[in-house]
Amino acid sequence: LATSDIVKSIEDKLKAAIEVASSLGEIVGYVSRTSPSMIDEEGGYVVFDVDPVIYFQNFSSIAQSGSILGVIDIKTLNVISLKVLSVERRDVLAELDLPDMYFPIPQAEATGLLTKTRIKARPLLAYDVKTGEVTTANYVIEPQSPVLLLRNPHVIQKIMGLPSEGVFLGYATVGDTPAFGGHAYLFLPLKAFYQHVLVLGTTGSGKTTLLKNIIASIISGYNLNNEKASIVVFDPNKDYVTIPLKPLWRLMKQMPENELVLASKAMEKINGLNGVIILLPITRSVVEEYVEIYETWARVLKAIAEDYLNTLLKPIMSKFSWSYEVEELEVAEEPSPRGKLRYVKSRIRVNYGGEVSEVYYYIIPYALRFPDLTPRELISLNPYFTRQAKDALQRILLAFSSKNAYLETIYDLYEALKESRFRVEEKQYKPRSIILDPNKEYVVEVVRDLAIHKSTIENMIRQIAAIIDTGIFDVYVKGTGEDKYLHEPPLESVLSKHFDVFNGYPIVVDLEYLQLHSMADPEKTISIVAFRILNKIFEWKLVQSRFKLESQPVLIFIDEAHRFFPSRGGVEEYIENVSGMIDRIARLGRARKLGLVFSTHSPKDVHDIVLQLTNTKIVLRTDKSHLSALDLPDEYRDFVTRSSDRVGVIKSHVLRLGYTTFKTPLPLIGHYDLSVLT
Ligand SMILES: Nc1ncnc2c1ncn2[C@@H]1O[C@H](COP(=O)(O)OP(=O)(O)OP(=O)(O)O)[C@@H](O)[C@H]1O
Ligand SMILES: [Mg+2]
Repeated sequence: LATSDIVKSIEDKLKAAIEVASSLGEIVGYVSRTSPSMIDEEGGYVVFDVDPVIYFQNFSSIAQSGSILGVIDIKTLNVISLKVLSVERRDVLAELDLPDMYFPIPQAEATGLLTKTRIKARPLLAYDVKTGEVTTANYVIEPQSPVLLLRNPHVIQKIMGLPSEGVFLGYATVGDTPAFGGHAYLFLPLKAFYQHVLVLGTTGSGKTTLLKNIIASIISGYNLNNEKASIVVFDPNKDYVTIPLKPLWRLMKQMPENELVLASKAMEKINGLNGVIILLPITRSVVEEYVEIYETWARVLKAIAEDYLNTLLKPIMSKFSWSYEVEELEVAEEPSPRGKLRYVKSRIRVNYGGEVSEVYYYIIPYALRFPDLTPRELISLNPYFTRQAKDALQRILLAFSSKNAYLETIYDLYEALKESRFRVEEKQYKPRSIILDPNKEYVVEVVRDLAIHKSTIENMIRQIAAIIDTGIFDVYVKGTGEDKYLHEPPLESVLSKHFDVFNGYPIVVDLEYLQLHSMADPEKTISIVAFRILNKIFEWKLVQSRFKLESQPVLIFIDEAHRFFPSRGGVEEYIENVSGMIDRIARLGRARKLGLVFSTHSPKDVHDIVLQLTNTKIVLRTDKSHLSALDLPDEYRDFVTRSSDRVGVIKSHVLRLGYTTFKTPLPLIGHYDLSVLT
């Protein structure tokens, strides 16, 4: 090939490069002809100069450390992302290389700043516009290649190695500022959720906001290619019961303009919700006063639901001078293979000082009946049983049922075990003068026959007391026969009818309500109920897949995960039981589309297994002291200790570069701090 042919071909490419560049954005400079471009085993760099006019107009997008630009490499015509490493500004006088002492009085002179800005940047990924392929930019970039500020969201996603589809998390940023003028959307594919997500961040960093934005995004179906998922939230703080309400910033508009722009832009695609399903744990102490007033279980449930809604809504409405009206409130029933699914359905009209809309609350009372649980289920409720106690209890209950004996409530079991302990202590196996009913007497016999050690009986009694103290067992609601006590609602029916009957609204387990009405140690109580519900969902998925039935994906959100999965739990068995459970659920999740999303403030406070099992980690603003537990690259370590609200770094296998920084907008669904309202 003659040299002249090569020159001709290069000339054509130069022209083409400029055309491509102009079609994708705005040219801000050209790779230097005087400083070399380079690549070696450590990576590469290019140097380019930016004209003063362009520099002063766009410096925040072009010339911050970490800014991302594009360059069209002349030989390949690929679009290559460039990450700015250094920026050098010089006054005109600097070019003269004069010593400072030459100027006795420093003089300001605007024209002195009209110099080119020298920028050094590192090539990251190469995008072949023709084939759509993205590869690592591992070749040197030609001098004279045009450098550009990109505007096209699709190309931006490509050269930043961001997924083009999935759940909307927010905007990729450079530092705290959305990159490319807010055109770099960050999506996390649903499949990444099946490999589980951990969100870390200090108080007020935006964990709950991010979780809510993820929920809003999934419910809206935006950019999800028609995939639907059921959402279950474990809510220890009453943070999620307000999600069907309108976001506060939309009504108040007291936020900085740039925040309003980002959030409004997201809300063009992601509309709010208009309903929620509340799984409401009902304890004996909740129903006590109601059963005195109301005649039937249906009236009791209705009254509980009505009071619940008023307690929730009144403070918010009066704080902002809004109003609401409960337009409909009725007990409904869905047939289900296992019992009936009973719930209270409510439609509420909310007037936000002019703007009016309707929201739906479906309240499903949650409680348990002792006879409904198999021995194994009862034992797995409380992770604090010692191994011996688990074993013994299992044997007692099995021997007991083989005698066809029957205990109506867990309280009966508790009494019988206490009697057994008494007789073991007294070495007096004959019935005392107070004669227990024959069923309880059976328990005592079994305990004696199995020669269970006293300390094991002690642990059994203590842990059954802990289960009893939650208050959710055998809750009498003034029914008769089968309806005497509240049944555990068939969660499998809620899930299989989630879209047909329940509109696909998120299912929120209100654990704060449980804590408020339970006598037990709050952490134990919420764990017992949360683990039961988790196991039920897990079981449903397992059964569906065993029978080769299609079931929708389920995403489970566990905000403040340290409260459910603490790194320390008193007894050794606790840690073992809990990690075994998460491990099983997490592994099934990968295969069967069950995803866990945890949030917590400190990686040290959650069980190690949570750190190990989450393949995507999101770190919002975090205390310095937590950095050592996270293997973040150096360039992000400083950043996450100082980032502003709702800004963080995400580490995920679905990102081409492994990491990106991003900002999630203001909450896209209701987010009200109830603790400051009451
Ligand atoms: N309704 C609201 N509208 C706008 N901003 C809010 C609203 N409520 C809280 N914020 C602010 O948004 C930021 C993120 O709050 P968020 O509740 O998401 O944090 P968090 O990380 O969950 O905190 P915590 O650990 O206390 O639960 C906070 O700085 C908070 O002050
Ligand atoms: Mg929170």
